[in-house]
Amino acid sequence: MQLLKSNIDTNLSTSVKNREMYQDGVNTTPMVKLCSVTKIYPNDTQALIDVELEVKRGEFLFITGASGSGKSTLLKLLYREELPTQGYVLVDGCDVVDLRGDEVSLFRRQIGVVFQDYKLIPQRTVAENINIVLQAQGYTRKEIRRRLEPTLKLVGLFSKANKFPKHLSGGEQQRVSIARAIVSTPQLILADEPMGNLDPDNSWQIIQILQKLNSFGATVIITTHDENLVRRCNHRVLEVNNGRIKDQQ
Ligand SMILES: Nc1ncnc2c1ncn2[C@@H]1O[C@H](COP(=O)(O)OP(=O)(O)OP(=O)(O)O)[C@@H](O)[C@H]1O
Ligand SMILES: [Mg+2]
Repeated sequence: MQLLKSNIDTNLSTSVKNREMYQDGVNTTPMVKLCSVTKIYPNDTQALIDVELEVKRGEFLFITGASGSGKSTLLKLLYREELPTQGYVLVDGCDVVDLRGDEVSLFRRQIGVVFQDYKLIPQRTVAENINIVLQAQGYTRKEIRRRLEPTLKLVGLFSKANKFPKHLSGGEQQRVSIARAIVSTPQLILADEPMGNLDPDNSWQIIQILQKLNSFGATVIITTHDENLVRRCNHRVLEVNNGRIKDQQ
């Protein structure tokens, strides 16, 4: 699986190096491919119906749609929180249904996920919340130190490294959760309504950070209800409507 083979040991310290670590000019495998995907939950809710989707490496994609239309379900299929009832879900050429045991956690490590409600650990500082990801993945203390500073700078929180989440604004907490998602330099970033609890200024900051990561080469997929924000950006938009997908571009 190419995603697992990607070099996650590159340095975050400069934007040039950031670009290098995501560049993969010769790889033409789509980052995401869904073929005839249907998802029916055990209570018989049809969340997605016959979805076809291809997202190229390095794309920035918005997913919009009414509440309950299937946006989160689509992302959950991509990080294998849910499995498709029918069809294939390929992430970087890897069929998520085929993953077994340890392969599932290795697969998830290659994807950065950001949620609407931040999911930070309240008793841990900003730095600890971010480091915990690398510790779980067996990085050395030296490597963890090497990655922390540029990641904090990227999200504009270097001065808040030793603060606890409750001492941060909502926008700052969301930026910590983005830092946590990207510190291991995943090629795919999935964000499920990351601006859902934020005002327009903070939402725009989050988008700018995600656009920056995208400019380094990361593929970014965001679900949102914020039509103004989607209009303000010039990216592909996909609308989910009662479990079916309408590509607007
Ligand atoms: N675990 C689950 N079990 C059963 N039904 C579910 C489950 N999760 C979601 N659903 C149902 O699947 C449909 C799609 O839900 P999903 O969460 O994907 O929508 P969404 O577009 O993300 O909505 P929102 O904008 O409110 O977050 C809804 O009808 C929802 O009730
Ligand atoms: Mg949702």
